Amino acid sequence: MAEIVVVESKQAAGELVATEIRRLIESKADTVLGLATGSTPLPVYAALAASFRANPLDVSRVRGFALDEYVGLPAEHPESYRTVITRDVIGPLGLTPNQIQVPNGDVATLEHAGAKYERAIEAAGGIDLQILGIGRTGHLGFNEPGSSFASCTRVKTLAPKSRADNARFFALPEDVPRHCITQGLGTIRRARHLVLLAFGVEKATAIAAAVEGPVTASQPGSAIQLHAHVTVVLDEEAAAQLAGLDYYRYIWANKPAWQGI
Ligand code: PGA
Repeated sequence: MAEIVVVESKQAAGELVATEIRRLIESKADTVLGLATGSTPLPVYAALAASFRANPLDVSRVRGFALDEYVGLPAEHPESYRTVITRDVIGPLGLTPNQIQVPNGDVATLEHAGAKYERAIEAAGGIDLQILGIGRTGHLGFNEPGSSFASCTRVKTLAPKSRADNARFFALPEDVPRHCITQGLGTIRRARHLVLLAFGVEKATAIAAAVEGPVTASQPGSAIQLHAHVTVVLDEEAAAQLAGLDYYRYIWANKPAWQGI
């Protein structure tokens, strides 16, 4: 099962995951990272940036693939995920821009954009560590309920709840695009290590369904149960609905130090 780690703050979550990413890059200079956007992964990027400032590391060969992108927003739009990844990840971490790819949401080339992205991930040798958030709908990436566990990068329609959640980034709620292009659950499952983070009470139901619920396409997060190496990093609020919480704490408290996450 997934390893469940409950931490006292977002900052502690960020530091835990950043330590693992740093260890990975130290052992493999051309590590391939799967990069999530949204609010959740920001503490990871902040902790990594702080780690690189305190103790510089050559990250020039690190490669990355964003999880998803809106369809129809120009790449230079302030809320396109290309812009967000450049601002929140490439800049602060000092990554090499042309080694970080984001699905192409340009309507003109959309038909083949998913297959092209899949080929690029494959050509890079696959994703070593995929950072994930989860939506209130249970989505991973923008794989809304009903998404096939075998799905590849493709166009999806955003659930109304997800559009409402993302409206905070846009001037008007109706400005949130209705479509996106997202890595599929099959794509995500091919990454070698999944690190799913969630903070806050509003994520507790989706987390309980992902970790302990039945494996069903109705709960895309439950796809993590089919993966051999998953780390779920939560604050107390996001962990609150887990029936096995005491046991997960016991496992973590007794984990051999050499194992990492
Ligand atoms: P959030 O989004 O990190 O902004 O809460 C997570 C998601 O929708 O997957």
